[in-house]
Amino acid sequence: MTNKLVTVVGSYNVGLFLKGERLPALGETQIGDKFHEGGGGKGSNQAIAAAMLGADVRFIGKIGCDKYGQDALRLYDEKGVSRASIKIDGSIHTGISVIIIDDDGNNLISVVPGANLRLTREELEAERDVIGRSRIIGFQLESDPGVVVHGIKMADSMGVQTLLDPAPVQPLPEDVYPHLAYIKPNEHEAAALTGVKVKDEDSAERAARVFLDKGVKNVIVTLGEKGCVRVNPAGTKVFPGIRVEVQDTTGAGDCFSGGFMAALSAGADPDDAIVYANCAASLSVTRLGVIESLPTREEVWEHMHALGMVVPAF
Ligand code: RIB
Repeated sequence: MTNKLVTVVGSYNVGLFLKGERLPALGETQIGDKFHEGGGGKGSNQAIAAAMLGADVRFIGKIGCDKYGQDALRLYDEKGVSRASIKIDGSIHTGISVIIIDDDGNNLISVVPGANLRLTREELEAERDVIGRSRIIGFQLESDPGVVVHGIKMADSMGVQTLLDPAPVQPLPEDVYPHLAYIKPNEHEAAALTGVKVKDEDSAERAARVFLDKGVKNVIVTLGEKGCVRVNPAGTKVFPGIRVEVQDTTGAGDCFSGGFMAALSAGADPDDAIVYANCAASLSVTRLGVIESLPTREEVWEHMHALGMVVPAF
């Protein structure tokens, strides 16, 4: 029987979005043309993306006891993410991100993690039962890195597949890599962690092989509009990009990870899960915002149908 649970460990950050014609230069004040406030944080985005795509999702994260934290809880109820493993710390603020977007969909993001950095190893240990029931568990790097590494090793020791989205990128202890079933860096993250300058499929494959040598089982290097490359000991597969009109790329990587985990939890083969995640992410960049841009399962099906792709049976 397929274990349908997807667990995500990570951050929630409220997003304060400012859109202008172009991004401000250092020291420059720019007058923008749109503002909105919404949910965000890489872990939370991935959890919500997976839930909107049909997965049964548990999010393990920490928020403050403030308005932004209350908004996060309402969002989970609305989007069908279980809030049973969300911790609240009244002594610190909920994570905050300020996101500036230009007319071409480029962004600048600044985050003050607040409560996110207070999630502890003990709190993860207390979630062993949930983690053990998961088809896959996703991590990113907006929480305390020591806690992330502990969680990855713990989940792996329980036989649960682990996915690390190494964003925002930072050095990782070498001994974590053999505990990763999947790592999903973008080109910048892959370059920072391997020393290989990634600009195309060939260089992505070279970077991926460095991760394989470190012990990762499967590497998915995303290349933005150029698609992505999956490398594992059995070989390499290139997944072409999908041409769309880009509005805002914020959160597209999170949508990819959420889509990948949702598809796996529904029983998809990993390569089919990548195709699905790629389609979901390509839809998300056609819309402004993060949560507002995440597609439903039906929207991804329609998108795949319109692209002449095989629509999955989940
Ligand atoms: O990946 C996008 C996310 O990064 C935003 O939601 C922002 O909160 C930052 O964490």
